[in-house]
Amino acid sequence: LQQDYLARIATADLAALEDIRIAALGKQGAITGLLKTLGGMSPEERQEQGPRINGAREAVTAAIAARKDALESAALNERLAAEAIDLTLPVAPSPQGSVHPVAQVMDELAEIFADLGFAVATGPEIESGWYNFTALNMPETHPARAMHDTFYFPDTGPDGEPMLLRTHTSPVQIRTMMAQKPPIRIIAPGRTYRSDSDATHTPMFHQVEGLVIDKGITMAHLKWTLETFVRAFFERDDIVLRLRPSYFPFTEPSAEVDVGFTVEKGKRVIGGDPTGPNGGWMEILGSGMVNPKVIEHCGLDPDEWQGFAFGCGIDRLAMLKYGMDDLRAFFDGDLRWLKHYGFSS
Ligand code: PHE
Repeated sequence: LQQDYLARIATADLAALEDIRIAALGKQGAITGLLKTLGGMSPEERQEQGPRINGAREAVTAAIAARKDALESAALNERLAAEAIDLTLPVAPSPQGSVHPVAQVMDELAEIFADLGFAVATGPEIESGWYNFTALNMPETHPARAMHDTFYFPDTGPDGEPMLLRTHTSPVQIRTMMAQKPPIRIIAPGRTYRSDSDATHTPMFHQVEGLVIDKGITMAHLKWTLETFVRAFFERDDIVLRLRPSYFPFTEPSAEVDVGFTVEKGKRVIGGDPTGPNGGWMEILGSGMVNPKVIEHCGLDPDEWQGFAFGCGIDRLAMLKYGMDDLRAFFDGDLRWLKHYGFSS
């Protein structure tokens, strides 16, 4: 009987092993049954049969334990081998996005102006007529409103004027002056909208607004700030600016700002002598001293506080610095364009 069990155990799998254990050593098991017969035996018989039966029980118990152990460690080894990870294998390349040139330029602007003490401010793209126009000294009848090709919503805002997509970042000037006490130094980059579309205009475009409100601020501060910014942005020290008298309802006086360029190898580059044979001027932004009426609309005393403001197209800046020639491609979402002009993060 013992030999029979030992032979079966030697080839059993885990499930068969349990069956054998029950058949041999369970309550109704064969060896258990033999052990029970010991009680009815004569002392002599018991002395002879006892060690044999107990020996068989021990041998079968040990054999089952040993086989179980062997089977389990084999299963574990198999699992370890199957689930092993080869850490020396090269990583499969995964597709990587890139930073859009507009986002890149916004980051550069924030960094340059942070060095000059400017914080970044934001405002909503869906704006009320009051913030976008009226507070900026463009009342409803003002002709300058018509020049903005505004996208209007059918809804009227809390100020009684129709809601609209902001046509410039200048409403952020108003929101900032109303929300915080001077001195104020902010730039406000963001999306702006006008119903206009050709190679140099898209209905959605980007501007950056600049605003300084403090005591004793003059046009000289404005020019120095813009010059410092443009030289840092285009990474050249030989860049000059020209301020031309202009008109914006929210600045007085107002100036359009031209940057000097030169033609190098058939391409316009910012910098160099604009009055030389290869030089010229290019308009890059609008600016001026904040109109006292605007300061007053924001609840500040214009006799105490003065400031300058400017507004500049970001997409144009990106095109000039990184050499794209069609603005529309910025917003097509063509992966080849994004791969070519995008930046790694
Ligand atoms: N908001 C003006 C525009 O969009 C630019 C500007 C901003 C001009 C601030 C002067 C001061 O054209």
